[in-house]
Amino acid sequence: MNANTIITTAPSKLTGYCEFQLGNFSFSRDEYFVYVRWPAPATGTQTTHVMSADAFLRAMMRDVAWGFFYGQVNFDAVFGTTNLYGQVEVYAGAFNPAYASNKLALKETFDTPIVMATFKAILDDWTNKGFDPFAAPEETGTAWLGQKNGHNREAIDRARATCRRMPGLKGDAPLRTDDSGYPVNRAFRDVSQDEPVVMAEPGFENEVSAFNLFKFLSRSDVTWNPSITSVCKESLFCPTTEEYILPIKHGNDRVEWFLQLSDEITWDVESKETGMPRAKLTMRPGDVACMPADIRHQGFSHKRSMLLVWENANPELPKLYASGKLPINPIAF
Ligand code: PHB
Ligand code: FE
Repeated sequence: MNANTIITTAPSKLTGYCEFQLGNFSFSRDEYFVYVRWPAPATGTQTTHVMSADAFLRAMMRDVAWGFFYGQVNFDAVFGTTNLYGQVEVYAGAFNPAYASNKLALKETFDTPIVMATFKAILDDWTNKGFDPFAAPEETGTAWLGQKNGHNREAIDRARATCRRMPGLKGDAPLRTDDSGYPVNRAFRDVSQDEPVVMAEPGFENEVSAFNLFKFLSRSDVTWNPSITSVCKESLFCPTTEEYILPIKHGNDRVEWFLQLSDEITWDVESKETGMPRAKLTMRPGDVACMPADIRHQGFSHKRSMLLVWENANPELPKLYASGKLPINPIAF
């Protein structure tokens, strides 16, 4: 069998949903829940972990759309993935002391394409019509429609907005406007829609640009989905709009910075290895925070807010932090 063949069953006669297998992990869903099952490495004892289908699909959507992101993507305190850049480690219980100390945790590493193909197939089969895992809960239907009920491929296959040049410059994706089908979000009706006036020296019209980032973000139709909006060497500005709960707990493999642009987000910060609580952080407009390289974090935004996530894409960083060559905090006070 081809190593990239997805292992799946026929739709269940009871629920209509297919089951999937990835290495020793199996995945199934019913009307309300998703079940992840795996054998304990030493004894083979089967362990079953249950999650709400709604939370699972929101997390799976991010893991797929972000290509497994930087470091860990924890779906919850038990199940998740670590990006090894070319390979993906899938784990259950490995970063949860109750499972790990009782020898119930499993970690398995796969080439990235098979994890991606399996996760995309799960997302496709388990997302019913009317449910958009990227949308704020108030702006979409429910993940729970009982037995399998249609698809929402338009939502789960939407491409992430990634700039090729600075937005607004020729050759880049068009800015979000009413005409391009991106209306101003209900929470951002007070955001000015004016664009700056740019007067370039003749000959530099294709080099100099400015745009209204607040207007751009006011028209975002998704939540908790940073889009790369500027690239300067390894420095990526990834602004995003946030509402409700970040569907994953991100375990950093490098330092990352947050700049709160509007409204308010509260962050739970925990140990990356154990999930032990480490800090609670409430960020208001203008606040800047640095997430250290050894934590996991999850944000809560009661009203749609604007956040700038600043990432350093240097591929050497995970090694430098893991080996202790770089301090896990960028500043020592
Ligand atoms: C993060 O993990 O740092 C993160 C992810 C998605 C967001 C914001 C922050 O929308
Ligand atoms: Fe993060």
